[in-house]
Amino acid sequence: MTLNQPYLNRFRATSAAMAQRIHLIAAARPNFMKVAPLWHALEAAPGFTPVLVHTGQHYDVNMSDAFFADLGLPEPGFHLGVGSGSHAEQTGGVMIAYEKVALEDRPDWIIVVGDVNSTAACAMVGGKLSIPVVHLEAGLRSRDRTMPEELNRLVTDVLADVLWTPSPDADENLLAEGIPAGRISRVGNIMLDSFELVRPAIEAADVAGELGLERGSYGVVTLHRPSNVDDPAQLVRLVDALVEAQRRLPLVFPVHPRTAKGLAGALFDSRLARAGVRLVEPLPYVRFMSLVTGAAAAITDSGGIQEETTYLGIPCLTLRENTERPVTISEGTNRLVTPETLLLEIERALTGPRPVRCPELWDGKTAARCVEDLRRRSAVAKLPVAEAGELAARYAGGERRRAGGESYRRS
Ligand code: UD1
Repeated sequence: MTLNQPYLNRFRATSAAMAQRIHLIAAARPNFMKVAPLWHALEAAPGFTPVLVHTGQHYDVNMSDAFFADLGLPEPGFHLGVGSGSHAEQTGGVMIAYEKVALEDRPDWIIVVGDVNSTAACAMVGGKLSIPVVHLEAGLRSRDRTMPEELNRLVTDVLADVLWTPSPDADENLLAEGIPAGRISRVGNIMLDSFELVRPAIEAADVAGELGLERGSYGVVTLHRPSNVDDPAQLVRLVDALVEAQRRLPLVFPVHPRTAKGLAGALFDSRLARAGVRLVEPLPYVRFMSLVTGAAAAITDSGGIQEETTYLGIPCLTLRENTERPVTISEGTNRLVTPETLLLEIERALTGPRPVRCPELWDGKTAARCVEDLRRRSAVAKLPVAEAGELAARYAGGERRRAGGESYRRS
């Protein structure tokens, strides 16, 4: 796999800082795209030693290994092998396993990303061991507490010492919840850095062609949220809607393992296949993005795809009642739809004008901003408390925190 060298060279100029050992927590498919650009940026920046910790929440080759290969990530420094289970089993399993690693390896910082169970679990471990925790993709809120991810977001943000946000709405959410401004840095959307990191490979691939489809003539479907695929009544509404939509727009549906179980249990997979929907295994990142870049529209319940389609200017129809990423609606290509309105919205997406806006700082340069912020905050953490307080007060809202598990105080 060749990575985009001009993209990587951007980090070489980063100035030296005191050596900081950073645990980057990778866990599940959407997290690999958030961790990869940051790992490369930290690895190239003097003064940082990034260590990948894979909790093993996603473990299939298609859901994990293929992403490491595509994104040029090395073997993890630690693999916790936690695997599947109930929410409590998965969260508890990650906490028990990661606590041992954190105690043994004693990082200066723990960086958690996104909103999966492993994110909240590792934030909790860091908080209890007084190791500073950074949350990348902080502040997103769907305000729907029936979503497991919303609970993970709330827990993680309340524990994190540094909150890296993608958009102004996220800053506002955190401030409204009483998080001090000094802990928040708006860095932009890291997912798009991953796209730029491997753009040449994405552009060279032709997954649509392999499936006998012309670019711009098909839709990509992904579904995996429990509220959509674990509830048989909702799943049947979705399958009906996709069968109907297929008549208007040929659909390719890479099926998540959670969804595959639900579809197979009700024989919906054969119904979709008979209708002409192309059901395929989950795709590695480069192949999936090749498919998305050639799509006329995406139909999804994924958070990441709402963002990627906004960046690429491709209409996105989100089969959910809410989104924690409202900026993809107000400044992007996203629309919330129901199974009943899907067909109408597909028609509108195919025939209507396409917005070409993109939110500020969604520019493929987020990893560089993260490294710079961490360098600044690490420098403050290494200073004597009085000096650190002065410096921190200048640019970080007066908050003091010392890295490496030393004592700290917040003002
Ligand atoms: C998880 C995240 C969700 C994220 C999604 C992306 C939580 C609560 N949810 O949902 O935020 O958007 O990942 O995919 O953390 N399975 C496999 N192989 C795998 C992984 C999972 O077969 O590699 C099966 C397991 O049987 C598992 C089920 O899929 O029980 C669901 O996996 P899980 O990690 O619980 O949640 P996701 O639905 O993937």
